[in-house]
Amino acid sequence: MVVTIGATMVVTLAVAFVIVYRQTGTELHNQLRVALRSSASQLAGTIRELPHATPDTALAAARRFARAQPYGNASVLLFAIVPGHGTASNHPELFGASKPDEDENWAEQRVENAQGRQLERPRPGFAYQQAPDTGMLLTYEQSVKLDDGLRVYAGAAEPVSGIARAQHGVRRSYLLAGAVALGLALLGAFVAGSRMAAPLRRISNTAERIDGGDISPRMHVPASASREVHVLAQAFNNMLDRLRDAFDAQREFVADASHELRTPLTVVRGQLDLLASTDPVSSEDLNRVSQIINAEVARMSRLTEDLLLLAQSEASDFLRPEPISLQPFVSELWDGLSLTADRKFEIGSLPDLELRADPDRLAQALRNLGSNAIQHTRERDGLVRIDASLLPTTREHSALVRFTVSDDGPGIRPEQRARVFERFYRTDPARPRAAGGAGLGLAIVAAIAAAHGGSVSAERSAAGGAAMNLDLPREPPTI
Ligand SMILES: Nc1ncnc2c1ncn2[C@@H]1O[C@H](COP(=O)(O)OP(=O)(O)OP(=O)(O)O)[C@@H](O)[C@H]1O
Ligand SMILES: [Mg+2]
Repeated sequence: MVVTIGATMVVTLAVAFVIVYRQTGTELHNQLRVALRSSASQLAGTIRELPHATPDTALAAARRFARAQPYGNASVLLFAIVPGHGTASNHPELFGASKPDEDENWAEQRVENAQGRQLERPRPGFAYQQAPDTGMLLTYEQSVKLDDGLRVYAGAAEPVSGIARAQHGVRRSYLLAGAVALGLALLGAFVAGSRMAAPLRRISNTAERIDGGDISPRMHVPASASREVHVLAQAFNNMLDRLRDAFDAQREFVADASHELRTPLTVVRGQLDLLASTDPVSSEDLNRVSQIINAEVARMSRLTEDLLLLAQSEASDFLRPEPISLQPFVSELWDGLSLTADRKFEIGSLPDLELRADPDRLAQALRNLGSNAIQHTRERDGLVRIDASLLPTTREHSALVRFTVSDDGPGIRPEQRARVFERFYRTDPARPRAAGGAGLGLAIVAAIAAAHGGSVSAERSAAGGAAMNLDLPREPPTI
């Protein structure tokens, strides 16, 4: 960042410098031109006012005028040229031949004399001319016509080195100011950059540790950090919390699943060991052991099927929805279920409607609810009932079809009503194994509901037992 800011500053300063430098040069040149023009005009005016001017009187008048304004700091170089008659100037050394200065030799003097003679040649308007000692001059000459037809050239000049010096001064101040500004900006950028980078560096250190497999660290940013950094750290921490929860849930799930599988495996091994130590083995022994092993294998295969189904329920192709006519669908299902146990099976009022759902999954969910009801009710007169109704569209949801499976068993205690839908959750863990399954039945119902965009809930039935609600939208949202 510091490099970027530095580069931007350098480019900006360079552009500004070129503009200011050029502008100063142009401005000074313009001012010089105005000054030269006005001085030359004044000199020309003096000559023009002479009555019956001759070259000599003109030169004499020019000399007087020039002498009154000696060349130096205050005044520009003034001169009048009458070609063939001579020159008058407030700095006569520039024109024509003169003796060499002490530190000049004859060769240098010859060059200067040649330059002086060049100056004596009239050049109306503005011109740049090399002059001895002063260097390059900007000259302005204006011609005045004398009575006898001769022309006098009244001129003014100034060395351009003054402009170069002024520009040089501008350049020096600019470079100094630019260097100070650049230094301060870089320092500021560095301080601001490190203040911003410090919390980000911490975040990246934490991220590295997490990448190394440890998800316990959390981002702690100082209160002085910017809002964006706080939002980033918060989002990161939330993500880590969710990740930890997901890992915990996963670990718990695997532990529960292996525990559930281990139990039947232990039974099978125990029975086989028992058989091995029995001598001689009677056919009754074999029958008994094979019955037990068959039951345990059936239990294990049901468990693995349930686990597989739960894993699949998160896949996008889990459902194959089709239109279902509610009345015949529920009646057939309940008639089928009634053959599996001796209970009082009832079908309540069923609305005559169609919904779109996966018929196999829906049947499985309702069967799970039905078999729970069977398990928790008395033989013969226990009530196992199904109802369906249409919940109209509200602000929270579109039209829902509610299936309710209720019984007159012991029911589910209010504090357990939400938890019964968790995987491997059983209200009574000490229950004899024969009396129940692994605790996946309601988790599967919940997964099927969720895949349809619906939900499940438990409440107390009118008969005092459990009432399990399965709510499905008439149209699954994703299909
Ligand atoms: N109709 C009900 N009446 C009383 N308790 C119920 C009823 N339905 C479920 N429960 C309780 O909810 C818990 C979870 O039920 P779920 O169907 O998920 O598991 P499960 O029936 O024990 O085993 P699985 O269905 O996998 O064979 C059970 O422990 C059960 O005690
Ligand atoms: Mg069950």
